[in-house]
Amino acid sequence: MARRRLIAANWKMNLTAPEGTSLTEALFSVAEIRRDVDVVLCPSFPSLHAVGALLRNSLVQLGAQDVFWGEKGAFTGQVSAAMLTDAGCTHCIVGHSERRGRFGASSLAPELLPYFADTDGTVGLKLRRLLFANIHPILCVGETLEEREAGRTEDVVRLQLEGALSGVDAAETFGLAVAYEPVWAIGTGSVCDAGEANRVCGFIRSRLAERLSPEAADQIRVLYGGSVNSKNAAPLFRESDIDGALVGAGSLKAAEFGRIVLAA
Ligand code: PGA
Repeated sequence: MARRRLIAANWKMNLTAPEGTSLTEALFSVAEIRRDVDVVLCPSFPSLHAVGALLRNSLVQLGAQDVFWGEKGAFTGQVSAAMLTDAGCTHCIVGHSERRGRFGASSLAPELLPYFADTDGTVGLKLRRLLFANIHPILCVGETLEEREAGRTEDVVRLQLEGALSGVDAAETFGLAVAYEPVWAIGTGSVCDAGEANRVCGFIRSRLAERLSPEAADQIRVLYGGSVNSKNAAPLFRESDIDGALVGAGSLKAAEFGRIVLAA
């Protein structure tokens, strides 16, 4: 089955609302050229409304970087799915390694890592909340360098998928995307070799087929993320099981991100 390409920009904790809106305006022409590609911008929470207002009636879609699983209530500092919908979000990243306290490159002291406390369990709660709210999740999975070197890549990815999808039926997964993001490749400049990224993305698809159904696995888009830039994007997109990318640093400049979308 031919799956539509999806290129998502993860702005992380970068860009104020005025900076985000100027970047967004600069991307409209590329989105116009590549109407066959889904382009999703994921700004920080405070910029969602400003960027969302610009994106209304455009081809580009809005995503958030995280969500809380509760519906509403006394959860200081958290943001609900209804709030994301209100801002115009159609997508939301969930289970990003930086939310799990797993960093490819970070100067954080190890004792601070537990504050970035997503687990497979909380990722599952968040994912189910998003599906219930009709927001398409972009579920991130991926191994650390230590885990890769110990030969545990498939085990780690399998457990993360199982945790996130527990209690989820194939029929509910419309719009779900999974991003394979090896932690060691995120923000480090060491992109994963295209063939190897494709192998793990294929493994993810086979697990989805087993856990959900072959039909669901065939329509779920599997993205690659980790140091994607305009130079390494084309070989990644030529691979059969890579349906797009989740782009961090490479999404913060219009010209660079535009070239990645054109390569899709
Ligand atoms: P990067 O980040 O492109 O800066 O490596 C990707 C991500 O974390 O989603």
